[in-house]
Amino acid sequence: MAFVPKQITQYQAEHLAELQGDVSETAINYCLDLIPPFKTGDVVHDNACGSGAVTESIMAANPPPGIHIHATDVNPQFVQGVESLAKSKDWPVTAAVMPAQALTFEDNKFTQSITSFAFHCLGDHDEAARQIYRTLQPGGVAIATIWVFMPHVDALQHAHWQTRGRDGPMPTLLPLEDYQELNLRDALKAGGFTDEKISCTETTAHLKVPQGGLKRWAQLAWSYLGALPSGWSQDDEDHWDEAIGDIVKQLQSGKGITAGPNGETNMEMRAVAPWRRSRGGARDRAK
Ligand SMILES: C[S@@+](CC[C@H](N)C(=O)[O-])C[C@H]1O[C@@H](n2cnc3c(N)ncnc32)[C@H](O)[C@@H]1O
Repeated sequence: MAFVPKQITQYQAEHLAELQGDVSETAINYCLDLIPPFKTGDVVHDNACGSGAVTESIMAANPPPGIHIHATDVNPQFVQGVESLAKSKDWPVTAAVMPAQALTFEDNKFTQSITSFAFHCLGDHDEAARQIYRTLQPGGVAIATIWVFMPHVDALQHAHWQTRGRDGPMPTLLPLEDYQELNLRDALKAGGFTDEKISCTETTAHLKVPQGGLKRWAQLAWSYLGALPSGWSQDDEDHWDEAIGDIVKQLQSGKGITAGPNGETNMEMRAVAPWRRSRGGARDRAK
C-alpha cells in the first residue's frame, strides 16, 4: 500500500469544501448569470464535481422543477459527499464516480455541461473536452472555468522546495507552468468546439481564511496539493510540520494576499470562464 504521512488529512468532500471556501460558488454564480436560465427538462452535467459547488449553486438559485443534475468525479469520497448532500436536501441529483475522460453518458445528453475549476488537474484535457462535446446536446451550453491566478500556489511551492530541495519533480497539483486560457481553448478546440463560438471572460473571487485559521488551511492545502507524482514519502512525514509552518509564513504576504480588518487573510483568485453560448443552433464541428 502507498505510504501516507501520519499527519495527513484523509480527504472527504467536506475538506475540499472547507479548503475552497466559497470561491468556486462565487465564480460559478458569475458564470450562471452569463447563460440562459435553466428551464424545465434541462439535464445538467456537474463534471469533476468535487464537493458539489456547481450543484449547490444551481440548487441555491431555485431552478424550475423538472431539471436533473448528474454530478460526477473521479474521487469516490467526493461523489459520496455530493450524493449525501443531495439526498439530505432532496435535490434531483444523480452522483457517480466517473473520470472526465471516460464518461459513460450517451451522446447529446446534456443541455448544460459545467466543468468548474478542474481542467488544470484532469490529466488528458483533450479527451475530457471531447467527452464534454460528445455528451452536450446540439446548441447546448458548456462552461469550463480555470483559475489563472491563485496566491497560495507560490506558498505551497515554497514549502515543497523548503522541505524537499530544489532538484526533484514538482507535486502533480503544483506544476511550475500555469494552465492558462490558451491551454483551455486549445483543449476545447481539440474536443470539437470551434474557437469563434467560445466566449471567454475573467472574474475574481476572494478566499478568506479567518484569523487564527491559517494553520488549519495550510494543513488542508498541503494534504490535498502536496503529493509528488510518486506519492508521499517518510521524508514528507518527517518534514510535515516544517512544510505547514512554511506555508503559514508564506501566506502572511505576497502577490494577491492582504490582511482583512478582522485579522483574516484574504487571497484574491482570478478565474477565466470560457463558455459556448449559442442555444438552439446546430452544433459546430471543428474543421
Ligand atoms: C479543484 S476541484 C474542483 C471541484 C468543483 N468542480 C468545484 O468547482 O469546486 C477539482 C476536481 O477535479 C476532480 N478530478 C481530477 N481529475 C479528474 C478526472 N480525470 N475526472 C473527473 N474528475 C477529476 C478532483 O477529484 C476534484 O474534485
